[in-house]
Amino acid sequence: MKLNFRVLRFNPEKETKPRYQDFEVVVGEGWTVLDAMNEIKWHHDGSLSFRRSCREGICGSCAMKINGINSLACETRLEDLKSKRITVEPLPSLPIIRDLVVEMYEFYNSLTPIKPYLINPSPPPDKERIQSPEDQQVFDGSVNCILCGACTTSCPSFWANHDYLGPAALLKAFRFEFDSRDGGTPERLPSLDSKYGLWRCHTIFNCVNACPKKININDAIGKLKRKVISEKF
Ligand code: SF4
Ligand code: FES
Repeated sequence: MKLNFRVLRFNPEKETKPRYQDFEVVVGEGWTVLDAMNEIKWHHDGSLSFRRSCREGICGSCAMKINGINSLACETRLEDLKSKRITVEPLPSLPIIRDLVVEMYEFYNSLTPIKPYLINPSPPPDKERIQSPEDQQVFDGSVNCILCGACTTSCPSFWANHDYLGPAALLKAFRFEFDSRDGGTPERLPSLDSKYGLWRCHTIFNCVNACPKKININDAIGKLKRKVISEKF
């Protein structure tokens, strides 16, 4: 089967603005968008740039906008798109380095203020800090985040202001704030409760729709909001 791929191209070193380039690609059964991008790179135009590594939804590097929706290219099957013409663009709202490759610095940097690690001031035990299965269930789904950036770059609050922590960082805060072994609330509270923290989430749900791991990010942020209120009053 032959499909048309409309791919955003941009080389900031040589061009002043992005443009679209069309490729007619003969695709095989069961192909993903990543397979098609590889086919273009290997057999049509070797200069096409995009990130990929694991090819199985683990590394998060192949997140891009596919037919208007932030998705993982390696997990998006062409037959599921049900379209003869597929538009492929970089994740929105981040600077383009080249074609489908965006600068992720701001995204990763948003994690720093929420201290995405276990904080426990008590002396460490001889072995590991034990946690019951019930306590682990409280934050279970959130550990599946692969930091692909699909959620944060689909969020209008992030589009409006890149100082907003964004859904991925808030989900990471939830993951540790609701861990029974953690005691880091006093250290995270100032950034969570700041001008660019939790309260910029207006439950628009774009993040939930974009997340390839089907994490209920809005539910996590809602619980985090209630926890921050209970800490303050
Ligand atoms: S929450 Fe989902 S969309 Fe956001 S970074 Fe993690 S895996 Fe990607
Ligand atoms: S290549 Fe690793 S998630 Fe797609």
